[in-house]
Amino acid sequence: MTFTAARLLPAAILTLASFVACDDEIRLPQNTPPVVTDDSGPDDSDPPATGYCALTELIASQCVFCHNPGAGPAGGLDLETDPIAALVGVPSALYAGRTLVVAGDASASFLMVKLRGEQTGAEGDPMPPQGANDTSVTDKIAAWIDAGALKDCEGGGVTDYHPTGYDKPKVHGREAKLHEQTCTDCHGADLTGSSVAPSCDTCHEDGWRENCTFCHGGIDNTTGAPPEDIDDNSDEATLAFRAHSRHVETNTHTAFDCTSCHVKPSDVLSVGHLFDATPAVAEVSFLEGLSSKGSYAGNGSCSNLYCHGNGQGNNGSVTHSAAPLACDDCHPGPTSGRDAWDTMSGAHEDHLREGIGCQNCHNDTTTTGSSITTPAKHVNGVKDFAPSSDTTLTRSSSGTCSGTCHGQPHSYERWD
Ligand code: HEC
Ligand code: HEC
Ligand code: HEC
Ligand code: HEC
Ligand code: HEC
Ligand code: HEC
Ligand code: HEC
Repeated sequence: MTFTAARLLPAAILTLASFVACDDEIRLPQNTPPVVTDDSGPDDSDPPATGYCALTELIASQCVFCHNPGAGPAGGLDLETDPIAALVGVPSALYAGRTLVVAGDASASFLMVKLRGEQTGAEGDPMPPQGANDTSVTDKIAAWIDAGALKDCEGGGVTDYHPTGYDKPKVHGREAKLHEQTCTDCHGADLTGSSVAPSCDTCHEDGWRENCTFCHGGIDNTTGAPPEDIDDNSDEATLAFRAHSRHVETNTHTAFDCTSCHVKPSDVLSVGHLFDATPAVAEVSFLEGLSSKGSYAGNGSCSNLYCHGNGQGNNGSVTHSAAPLACDDCHPGPTSGRDAWDTMSGAHEDHLREGIGCQNCHNDTTTTGSSITTPAKHVNGVKDFAPSSDTTLTRSSSGTCSGTCHGQPHSYERWD
């Protein structure tokens, strides 16, 4: 986790307004930092050091003499090198059950006990040992802890990291999807919150992490496939991939799963999904699909595809701006003519020129020759041969045909 002053936005006074702005069904955060009112916060006449800077100023003037990297005992506590690392969430080295600073809770922080001289007889001296601190100083340190103990000197120790209105889905949701910041840095590697920032689950409904339409899709169908790109765009003409619905819904083929073209995540935190090395980029991977040799050129253009080929290999290309495809866009159809039929395997041309239709030999796939009867049989990776019921043709395991078709006897006829 890295915090730098430069990354922190100018802070405003923390109010509950942003949490309360949630819709009714959204739960309020459980560990909301307390509202800091005018009388508990610093006013304009206070010295300038506030928040984290109030702490570092105190340390520099009263503590580093004993609590530095080289000074030995003093509780083994080095307050000079990195006060946050030394204090926040760190158990006392000397007194069981004490935590030096509990982010968000000054009253549970042993540092405050020591600074206010409220330790028990068995818990050593007040800090600094020569005498307790003025409450104008200790109150600022307490306010800094209550606000989350961040490395932030602005706002009088009260930190409101995000700008006003950030709780709106179109603001923080969009920023999360486009990775304008890495949310996991502060909200925890699993987004369940950290000592400094709330869990994303405090507002979102249960199951949001596995809900594929929470972030994308949901317009044409509930698969999660866009329309609705990760930048919230759902304008057909500018979608990253305009043909999602044609693929993920039953068409002249069965509904293809996302795995045909992507590694399919199972939830928000799946490896390679949002929080990967290429933020805001939807990786296309054909490896698990029928077109495993396919390649993606960007802009919705694909080549070396089996699915858009003529059924004889990985020879298809297509772009998502193409109109819905006709039967003869991938392989020749019933009216394509002899030259085209010649490009098909074996004895296609010999039969088609005699007026024998596709449905006579591929009857499971099409009973008309111009429409698909059983989508599951089409573009399924199998050349489905199924003679129509008005023939007695059978095909041997080596591919030869025997029987009678339209009065034409076949005896171990080879196809190629
Ligand atoms: C004169 C040396 C000295 C100074 C100055 C001093 N300390 Fe300490 N501090 C110690 C010693 C010795 C201990 C261990 C014994 C004790 O708890 O009293 C200690 C313990 C602590 C502990 C408890 C550590 C633990 O692991 O439980 C905290 C917290 C602490 N000091 C904070 C501070 C802060 C903050 C300041 C400045 C405001 C400060 N000290 C100034 C000597 C000092
Ligand atoms: C203050 C409450 C609140 C917190 C905290 C919160 N969210 Fe949200 N978020 C919402 C609301 C409200 C929605 C709208 C969806 C809903 O009703 O559950 C939403 C929606 C989203 C969306 C979808 C937006 C879209 O239009 O596609 C994303 C992405 C998102 N949040 C990310 C996050 C992440 C990541 C975190 C934690 C770092 C987080 N949110 C924490 C309130 C919150
Ligand atoms: C540098 C640390 C940091 C990062 C990075 C960060 N957050 Fe936060 N976030 C906080 C802190 C601290 C709070 C609590 C104080 C506040 O509300 O600003 C918070 C609160 C929130 C809230 C509730 C805010 C409100 O106004 O009610 C939402 C929603 C949220 N974060 C979403 C996100 C999302 C989404 C991301 C990633 C795009 C993100 N945060 C990245 C520190 C961070
Ligand atoms: C036929 C192939 C194919 C199938 C099937 C497919 N996708 Fe895609 N998807 C793509 C292509 C191509 C892109 C565009 C990649 C790019 O250029 O950024 C894309 C992009 C996306 C994007 C990012 C859009 C954006 O904003 O940039 C999401 C999200 C997505 N797909 C989700 C899904 C989901 C969920 C499924 C399954 C329900 C699915 N896809 C099925 C090919 C496919
Ligand atoms: C919190 C928002 C969110 C949720 C919930 C979500 N996604 Fe995504 N998804 C994204 C973002 C953002 C991308 C763009 C990829 C990136 O940022 O690296 C993406 C990309 C994808 C892609 C393209 C391949 C990739 O990983 O880049 C697929 C497929 C996908 N999501 C499917 C799903 C499925 C299936 C679910 C439900 C199990 C789901 N998503 C839930 C935000 C989300
Ligand atoms: C997107 C490209 C594409 C389009 C468009 C297409 N096909 Fe196909 N077709 C194929 C592929 C690839 C095969 C190879 C076999 C397989 O995988 O099912 C095939 C195979 C066939 C077969 C052989 C039997 C079988 O199922 O293997 C028939 C018959 C057929 N298609 C008819 C049609 C008809 C009729 C249409 C128009 C409604 C059509 N095709 C549109 C790609 C396409
Ligand atoms: C006389 C029977 C017959 C007719 C008529 C026929 N096919 Fe075929 N088709 C076959 C056989 C046999 C195969 C090869 C099956 C194998 O390799 O196992 C095949 C294979 C295919 C393939 C896979 C690619 C290839 O060239 O082998 C496609 C695509 C196809 N047919 C489409 C059609 C279409 C479209 C029609 C109608 C215009 C049609 N077929 C008419 C018998 C026929």
